[in-house]
Amino acid sequence: MLVLGIESSCDETAAAVYSSEKGLLSNVIASQSVHEQFGGVVPELASRAHQQSIWSTVEQSLTEANCSVDDVDVVAVTQGPGLLGSLLVGFSFAKGLALSHNKKLVGVNHMDAHIYANWIDHQPEFPVLSLTVSGGHTQLMLVKNLFDQELLGETRDDASGEAFDKIGNMLGLDYPAGPRMDKHAQNGNPKFVQFPVAHLPGTYEFSFSGLKTAVLYHIRDQKEENPNYVEENRDDLCASVSEAITKPLIKKLDLAIKEFRPKSVVLAGGVSANTMLREKAKVLCKKRRVPLYIPHISYCTDNAAMIAITGYLKASKGLFDDFDMKPFARL
Ligand code: KG4
Ligand code: ZN
Repeated sequence: MLVLGIESSCDETAAAVYSSEKGLLSNVIASQSVHEQFGGVVPELASRAHQQSIWSTVEQSLTEANCSVDDVDVVAVTQGPGLLGSLLVGFSFAKGLALSHNKKLVGVNHMDAHIYANWIDHQPEFPVLSLTVSGGHTQLMLVKNLFDQELLGETRDDASGEAFDKIGNMLGLDYPAGPRMDKHAQNGNPKFVQFPVAHLPGTYEFSFSGLKTAVLYHIRDQKEENPNYVEENRDDLCASVSEAITKPLIKKLDLAIKEFRPKSVVLAGGVSANTMLREKAKVLCKKRRVPLYIPHISYCTDNAAMIAITGYLKASKGLFDDFDMKPFARL
């Protein structure tokens, strides 16, 4: 089975081809630089940029996979959650392509796809415990079997990626600040400042908005004494913030491992690219003797390889969609 995956939920136009026999054949991403000057994604600009690059991105993914549209069996496309205008571009394109070339169509939940990105290179044994951490979501999910999953808890306010981006911005880092914060943190002391961490006992929920306020006030107070405080201590501040974001993620992951005794643990989503989180998860899972899978760094942030593999897994279970399926902005 040959699956063409298309992703356009936010600010990456992406297409990939997955073969049931040979695995991933191509993975093309066109990133949109137009948002950098605004410090965040501007939805209308994102939709227009998707429209400009969708055709060439899909063509390139087919060329790199050494195949044509005729060879494709299934078109898989992100159905949501995401920016509605952006979703519509990939969605309409996928529908048009599938309809005109008589292909099967599969709608893919973007958050599921982050989880199933782990299936590109591995076969995690069920039940799987997933810590899904992205720019818009932070969720602990018990995946009992393919597409049979239970949400254990999620964030009450900001997502972990959002916390990295917003706090990084306060520390003078450009959008998206997460990867930049990661680089600085690697040279810093995570104990430089002990920022408060929300524990929310008795739940698998998270909260990061208090941390944002704590960092804001900390910077404000320190700058009164030393106007160059942030510039002079950026590495240490980034390490301390990374510590405060990853600590509750690992704590709840540990509690869930103890309660649900999964056969494997996976990290998923853009923040699973974070060095500190990956290291802490490795240490924890070694201690708890449970296999840990983390997507290859190129499948952590938004990509179409994860859409293609999820499309393949759905198609292999006969989970196809009608042409009247609609995109959705929120979970
Ligand atoms: O999964 P993703 O690409 O898009 C969404 O579905 O939201 O996640 C993007 C998020 C952004 O907030 C970005 O700053 C964060 O993932 N991110 C990171 C790292 N790489 C990406 N956060 C911390 N450390 C990283 N290395
Ligand atoms: Zn994503």
